[in-house]
Formats: sequence, structure tokens, C-alpha cells
Amino acid sequence: MFSLQILSALMAVPAIWTVAHARSVPASSSFSQVKFARCPSSFGDLDSGFDCGALEVPIDWDNPYGEKIQLAMLRHNATKPEQRIGSLFFNPGGPGYSSVPYIEGAVQLFGDEVSDRFDIIGLDPRGVGISSPIKCDPEYYNQRVSLWPSNQIEFDALVNKYAKFGESCYNMTGPLVKHMDSVSVAKDIEAIRQGLGDEKLNYLGLSYGTLIGQTYAELFPQNIRTMVLDGNMDHSTDLISYLTVKSFTYETELVRFTEWCGPSKECPFNGTSAAILKIWDDLLAKADKKPLPAPSCKVSGTCRADVTREEILNSVNSMLWFKSGPFQTWNKLGKALYSATKGDASGFSDTLALNSSSTSFQGQPVSCLDWDHPEESLVALKYQHELASSQWPHVKIGDDGRNKCIGWPFPAVNKVRRANIIGTPRILLINSQFDPSCSYIWANGLRDQIQNSTLLTRKGDGHTSYTVFGESRDIANNYFVNMTLPADNTIVNS
Ligand SMILES: *[C@@H]1O[C@H](CO)[C@@H](O)[C@H](O)[C@H]1NC(C)=O
Ligand SMILES: *[C@@H]1O[C@H](CO)[C@@H](O)[C@H](O)[C@H]1NC(C)=O
Ligand SMILES: *[C@@H]1O[C@H](CO)[C@@H](O)[C@H](O)[C@H]1NC(C)=O
Ligand SMILES: *[C@@H]1O[C@H](CO)[C@@H](O)[C@H](O)[C@H]1NC(C)=O
Ligand SMILES: *[C@@H]1O[C@H](CO)[C@@H](O)[C@H](O)[C@H]1NC(C)=O
Ligand SMILES: *[C@@H]1O[C@H](CO)[C@@H](O)[C@H](O)[C@H]1NC(C)=O
Repeated sequence: MFSLQILSALMAVPAIWTVAHARSVPASSSFSQVKFARCPSSFGDLDSGFDCGALEVPIDWDNPYGEKIQLAMLRHNATKPEQRIGSLFFNPGGPGYSSVPYIEGAVQLFGDEVSDRFDIIGLDPRGVGISSPIKCDPEYYNQRVSLWPSNQIEFDALVNKYAKFGESCYNMTGPLVKHMDSVSVAKDIEAIRQGLGDEKLNYLGLSYGTLIGQTYAELFPQNIRTMVLDGNMDHSTDLISYLTVKSFTYETELVRFTEWCGPSKECPFNGTSAAILKIWDDLLAKADKKPLPAPSCKVSGTCRADVTREEILNSVNSMLWFKSGPFQTWNKLGKALYSATKGDASGFSDTLALNSSSTSFQGQPVSCLDWDHPEESLVALKYQHELASSQWPHVKIGDDGRNKCIGWPFPAVNKVRRANIIGTPRILLINSQFDPSCSYIWANGLRDQIQNSTLLTRKGDGHTSYTVFGESRDIANNYFVNMTLPADNTIVNS
């Protein structure tokens, strides 16, 4: 994707560290500048105005003289430099998503005024995308296990897979795998802010990017000019509450999808919501007996040749993310479900990792460093599964929970806890009412952990709101540019 050799040529002179700063991010002026150069040709044909930047940071912020890694970013320069306000950092979530494809479309994504007046910075989190990406063994990653095992053999296979997979990432990458947590990422952002010579931070975080943003806000409250968190995570939820909220919000949005689908011309099913849910239930029951064939994956070899019930549930959740707007997925979900009923479930098949540089790996260490691992017991998992299944008949538990971290060889370092975010300017929280991934409940939970925030509610469906390109984006942009905020608890429709 990105040639690190080319970036190494840009490597900054090592930062000068003082003992007083040893346990946190040093104060300004201790940092090297971010070095920019033309992006490598692997980026393809970028329009004018883009360049690539790099900065070295320690793998372990508590050991600033230790081994370093290189953070890298794609920057889109403000198109009207004479009206430039500053830099705007963007993180699309995941965890483990690269911002590069979004920044490549910066003008469309952020609109004219914001891209005229801000340098837009797509800094990939450490270990992800263009920032010293991790390597792992694809063989372990590709092993199929049940994340909700029903017997000891399945349970042992689950534990073994993630133990070995994690170990392989460590063996092939090194200690970075133990330092990809959101606290480290927030400190990296601070290093970059200083390395750009910016006075204050402007930040837009979607989804998992909201956890990065809130972590930054707790550590460096006074360094923020504007911050928008959209599709919010609540890092204080215990496991049962997490699973309950996930299943509840998934079931609610699935039902709303079926209500939309029947009458919609974009969706192949014609019946009532109840009739479409019956088709859904039957499809899942069938997949539970025997994985459904995915013939186009069998041909391409890039995804699994068949699809289990758990895999369908996982894929469908992410296809509920965008009802409308440029990223629209509800139309694709209708078509994929229809094909699945006709014998081709390829639309729901898991992507396979084809080599040790697969981008599919990059979120896993982050999740297992940011969230406490579930108890290693079959009984506990069966209990959780039964609990959810009794409440939500169409999706049952509907989410992996944290089960990929059972067996993960490295403990959580950024423990689940309430944040205490004080001394920031007003942070704008945006959440849709029916977000199937980051529930409105989480936005309200997070709001209680921030002293100075405004909640903007989008009455509608899907995950994140800036991405719908409607009123929410206009309001966020007005805040970035003019620092004008809506009244607290404003409700918009788009
Ligand atoms: C972006 O702006 C900076 C600062 O003015 C300048 O040095 C750089 O060459 C610009 N990059 C591009 C690609 O225009
Ligand atoms: C990782 O390396 C250690 C030490 O060389 C080795 O014992 C272990 O089997 C390796 N694990 C994996 C999953 O490759
Ligand atoms: C839905 O209705 C259209 C038009 O009446 C028809 O062509 C199509 O086959 C129907 N779809 C299903 C899944 O029954
Ligand atoms: C790994 O596979 C991806 C496709 O998934 C490909 O784009 C990339 O070039 C491959 N990398 C290496 C190092 O072979
Ligand atoms: C909240 O932030 C605004 C600026 O955005 C500031 O004027 C106000 O004093 C802050 N309130 C508190 C309680 O810090
Ligand atoms: C910022 O304020 C100006 C003047 O009121 C207005 O014309 C402009 O549209 C605002 N910008 C955004 C992004 O809303």
C-alpha cells in the first residue's frame, strides 16, 4: 500500500527528551517537526494539494528513549491558504481503519468551505494503514472458529486461535503489538499536533475515532479548539451492558430495515416487515445447520467459500450502517439477502487474509488493549448467549462481544473505566437515534463523562451522521469554521 522505505528517507531527527517528560508527552518544542514530501507513487494519481508526512515516536510512551516507530499521514492542504484556520485531524474508526481513502476524497467528504480553510490530516493510528502497519500470520487469522462456542472443543479452538494469532503478530511485528491502545494513539496525535506547529487541535472522529478523541480530550483538554465525536463509544460499559446494548440496537435497526425494505424500490423483497423477518429467521436457521454457499468467493479465493450464521450476523450489522448518502449500504443489504435466499451468500462472506500484511489484522490488537478481556469460561459465554437470545429473537447476541480477546496473549492496558473530561471547550457529540453499531445509549453515557459538551441528535438510521452529508455535517462544519454551536439537544433529520 505504502512504501515505508520511501518514508524512511523523510525520517525526522530524533526528538530531544527531558527526564521530566519521561512519563508522558513532552511539552511543546521538544518535538521534531513533521516532515512532508510528495506521496509515493503507490498512492496513485492524487489531485494536486496532497502530500505525505511522517514523524517518529516511541513505541512505548513510558520509555521515550526506547525503540521508535514511524507515524505517517496523508495531508490535503487548505485550498485557500490565505484563509487557513489550521489543521483538521480525521479518524474514521474501526478500530484499525486507515484514513487514507477518506482523505483522498477530502473535498467531497468535508465540503468546500472546510477543505478551503483547513489542512485535512489523515493520520493513521500506529500499526494501521501507512503508520508502521503490523504483520501477522494469515493462517491463524483465517482459521474458522465459533465466537459463541457451544461445547468445550469449540471453546478451546476459539482460545487457541486468538492466542496463536496474537503471538504471531508479536513474533512478526515486535513490541508495537502491545502498544496500539487508544491512550498511545492520543499521545501520538499530540506529538503530531506539536510537530505541525499547530496552536490547537481540530478533530473529527467517527465511531472508534470517538474513543481516540475522548481519550485525547481527557489527556490534553486545553489543547483543543474544536472536537466533533460522531457515532459514540462509551468506554465505561461493562461486558453485559455492552452486549445488551449491542444486541438491542442491532435488533431495532434490523426491524427498521425490514420496514423500509418492503415498500422500497431499491430492495428486492416486497412483503411486510414480519414476512421479511420470517425470511431472515429461516435463512439464519438454515445457515446454522450448514454454512450457506458463497460461490463467487469460491472462485475468487479472497473470501470464505461458505458462510456461517455468526458470519452473516456480523456482515449484516455493518451493512446496516448507511441507509442513505454517498456510502449507502441498505440497498446492497437487500440485494445480498435476496441472493442468499437464492443460494449465493457471497455478499456476507468473511474476507480472508492473503498475506502477512493484510489490513484485516490491524484492529484486533487495538480492541484487546482497550477493552478488558472476557472471563475464559464456556459457561460464561453460554450464559451471555442465552441471555441475549431470550430478548432479541432475530439477532440473538448479534455481536462478537469481546470474544476475540479470549486467549489474546497481551492484557488490556487501557482498562474500561469512566472518563473524566474537564477543562475542554465545548465538544460536539453527534449520534443518530438508531445507530446499529454505536448506540444512542452510548452517546448519552459519554455525555455524562464530559463536563462541557453539546449533543446533536440525528433522528434517523445508520452509523455516524457526518457521512450522510446533511444537516449534521453542516452543523459540524459551522462549528469547525466559525465555532458556532447549536443549542444543546438539537434534533435534526439528516
Ligand atoms: C502544502 O502547504 C505547505 C505549506 O504552505 C507547502 O509547503 C506544501 O508544498 C504544500 N503542498 C502541496 C502538495 O501543495
Ligand atoms: C513465536 O515465537 C516463539 C519464540 O520463537 C515461538 O516459540 C512461538 O512458537 C512463535 N509463535 C507463533 C504463533 O508463531
Ligand atoms: C417484488 O415485486 C416485483 C414487481 O411486482 C417482482 O418483479 C419481484 O419478483 C417481487 N420480488 C419478490 C422477492 O417477490
Ligand atoms: C498482500 O495482499 C494484498 C491483497 O490483499 C496485496 O495488495 C498486497 O500487495 C500483498 N502484499 C504483499 C507483501 O504481498
Ligand atoms: C465550555 O466551552 C465554552 C467554549 O466552547 C466556554 O466558553 C465555556 O466557558 C466552557 N464551559 C465550561 C464549564 O468549561
Ligand atoms: C461561517 O459563517 C459565515 C458567516 O456567517 C457563513 O457565511 C458560513 O456559511 C459559515 N460556515 C459554515 C461552514 O457554516
